[in-house]
Amino acid sequence: MHFNGKRILLGVSGGIACYKAVELARRLVTAGAQVKVVMTKGAQEFVTPLTFAAITGQTVGTGLFGPGIHPLEHIWLGQQVDALILAPATANLIGKFAAGIGDDLLTTILLAATRPVLLCPAMNCEMYANPVVQENLARLEHRGVTVLRPGVGPLACGAVGYGRLPEVEDMLAALSRLVSPQDLAGRHLLVTAGPTHEDLDPVRFLTNRSSGKMGYAVAKAAWRRGAEVTLVSGPTALPPPYGVEVVQVRAALELLAVLRERFPTADALIMAAAVSDYRPESLASTKLKRGSRAQELRLVQNPDIVKELAALKTHQVLVGFAAETGDLLAEGRRKLEEKNLDLIVANEVNRPDAGFAVDTNEVTLIPREGEPLALPLMSKDEVAERLLDWLAERLGGREAQGG
Ligand code: PMT
Repeated sequence: MHFNGKRILLGVSGGIACYKAVELARRLVTAGAQVKVVMTKGAQEFVTPLTFAAITGQTVGTGLFGPGIHPLEHIWLGQQVDALILAPATANLIGKFAAGIGDDLLTTILLAATRPVLLCPAMNCEMYANPVVQENLARLEHRGVTVLRPGVGPLACGAVGYGRLPEVEDMLAALSRLVSPQDLAGRHLLVTAGPTHEDLDPVRFLTNRSSGKMGYAVAKAAWRRGAEVTLVSGPTALPPPYGVEVVQVRAALELLAVLRERFPTADALIMAAAVSDYRPESLASTKLKRGSRAQELRLVQNPDIVKELAALKTHQVLVGFAAETGDLLAEGRRKLEEKNLDLIVANEVNRPDAGFAVDTNEVTLIPREGEPLALPLMSKDEVAERLLDWLAERLGGREAQGG
């Protein structure tokens, strides 16, 4: 997990969203982080330090002075961690941070902090919209603080608007980027995922078993490692990954149209989507009726998308996947050649723990140059990391093209 052994300082200021910080602390600890919580006086009115101490197994910072408090704690706490996260960050905390005021433990830690800070505001929507709060946030962003803009929705005060603390999942994703090596920074990756739906009539379509999990895992990991990521996704039940631009498509021809547009400025294309090789010859405008005789379904071939894009290649690295039920290596190599790819990730799709719709996969990375690498069964998240290790090295010496 990306937080394994990472030291995180969680600063909690006084708002009703404090209870969500408890869940955040728990998730960080579960993910392997060592979490030091520092609470403002206001936060202690909402949740007791004991709650955080029980969850993190560490003493909770509550003030600058008092028995057992090291006189230099306010200096080194923000320097010895891997990252700081302020959640929830009230308008008051944001104002003090922006103005350089240090009048309690948390604000003095922020003054002396040298590590990356993720700030997650949560407040009433009018307060959030106040120009002074917006100016303070802009000032902090300008100074290198990462601000996770609040979500929109019903607030504790009864109003509906911007001000909700971001979802725990999003805070974890944004924080994981701050503590990860940025070996794909400055790169633009195009990733495809999921199945295509090839419509037959207004209610029926041809598709396959792809859930999108493999491609989404690649997109998430690439963003965490610093890339700008565009995920072109067929229909899936997965939530959009935080930070990633998601373009939804249905059919192979739509996928091709989007990729053609985005390909010229990408540094790499990773085709994890399971694209239908065929589509119905015609699309019925009304629902096909049941008749007395068998129906004949005529299909035409879809373009080989990745092969078409390979023909347009100027500088891009092209990675395909090969869904196989036979000889993984031979078939993988054949597709690598035929489609003119730089790497193919071959996976067996006729076993229960790999391929379609499961959380694990067993793949062989087959590069155009060099030896194939057979990886053991692992989570799709880990497969994504290994694939991106190869890509980061491959892109390593090259100039980023930008978007
Ligand atoms: O989505 P999941 O449930 O997590 O499952 C993951 C997966 C099994 C779908 C994934 O790991 C995978 O193997 N994706 C590729 C599936 C596939 O279409 O394989 P293929 O061997 O038929 O095609 C080879 C390559 O050509 C693929 O990169 C494919 O995207 C591409 N292709 C295929 C057909 C087509 N008309 N155009 C293409 O570009």
